[in-house]
Amino acid sequence: MMKFVNAEEIYRRAGGRGGLPAWTYNNAELTALETEQLFLRHWQFVGHVADLPNPGDYLCFELADERAIVVRGQDGELRAFHNVCRHRASRVVADDKGHCGKSLICPFHGWTYNLDGSIRTIPRGDSFGDIDREALGLIGLDCEVWHGLVFIRFGGDGPSIREVFAEAEEEVALYRMAEMLPYAEPWRYDFDLDWKAVLDIDNEGYHVPIGHPELFDLVGASYTDRVTEGGLSRAWGDIRARKHRLQRNRDYVDALPRESYLPESHRDLWIYWGMFPGFVLTLFPDQVEIYQIYPTGPGKSVMAGMTYALADERPQMARARELNRDINTAVGDEDVQLVKWAAEGMRSSGYAGSVLSDFELGVASFQNQLRAILPVTALPDAPEAGSLREVNQRLQQQNRVSAVS
Ligand code: FES
Ligand SMILES: [Fe+2]
Repeated sequence: MMKFVNAEEIYRRAGGRGGLPAWTYNNAELTALETEQLFLRHWQFVGHVADLPNPGDYLCFELADERAIVVRGQDGELRAFHNVCRHRASRVVADDKGHCGKSLICPFHGWTYNLDGSIRTIPRGDSFGDIDREALGLIGLDCEVWHGLVFIRFGGDGPSIREVFAEAEEEVALYRMAEMLPYAEPWRYDFDLDWKAVLDIDNEGYHVPIGHPELFDLVGASYTDRVTEGGLSRAWGDIRARKHRLQRNRDYVDALPRESYLPESHRDLWIYWGMFPGFVLTLFPDQVEIYQIYPTGPGKSVMAGMTYALADERPQMARARELNRDINTAVGDEDVQLVKWAAEGMRSSGYAGSVLSDFELGVASFQNQLRAILPVTALPDAPEAGSLREVNQRLQQQNRVSAVS
């Protein structure tokens, strides 16, 4: 069940309406800690089961210094491994996505692994003396499939994806995502900006009326942002709540077939589910879009997404999907510009902090979750160079002590 937290509670936890201090958007030591303690310990979306339908199909995912490969085994199971050869660390597949047949053959010296990660053959194996071949399989990673979506985790032992998304389960189940197929080409924006600057805009709908005139024309004042007790964000808008001024919106809504597998309650909704730190699942009546934002280095980040849809031969549906893509591409381009301007401003000496409204609960909630893990982000000024990790550790310990007492 969805239970939403009210604004008062969120801002009480945040200790006020001020956002994160400016330094947190421009600090390489913090990016390193965020990468290690958030991104390498939380689930990352890799793709959909339909991206690797057959035994030997694989998908790769990289984050910071880590490389993962997800491969479908002869038994049909998906497994994730570090994409690091046990001989001398080469990646074991060259491409981001592909088919490797019955085994993974390292391109460096040809060590060969079965699809379950175990060693199959070592060229000139007797030249290695008395090594334990059993122990030299690829090192496994956590891998979980939820409604057809494939997630991996490089470390950490937090809740499963199913648990994290428990509050969204009932709604997400309506969309039959596991039966969907890749629809459009994957997309990706690279930013020379801190990942949080990119994420902030995505966590609120307060900018929709001004920043996204077309989206506003589509959903109008029906657009709503809420945060659940479990820390998920849900934003939604009703595409038939108002008369549309813009032709493309009229065309989209007219093209959408009325006959749908979705219940009446969901046929006219655009819904965005956000999961900390940077994952978004967008449920449209005609397709779903999944994207995530993560750091790729100090002051660098990426926002990358993919679209999936049920097989549907109706020309009307194809038309609706195409118009949906056009509308969302325009929204994306608008966000890219807005994000750049805000992030530039945060580097200026004229930046004196932010102030958040009740329409920006997603931002505040995200920042609450960030401060809970990295309390150093609550400090008004950056810790002295070289000390951030240590200062954060001290604050974590203090928080633990005060939580117990
Ligand atoms: S590094 Fe893979 S076979 Fe040598
Ligand atoms: Fe936006």
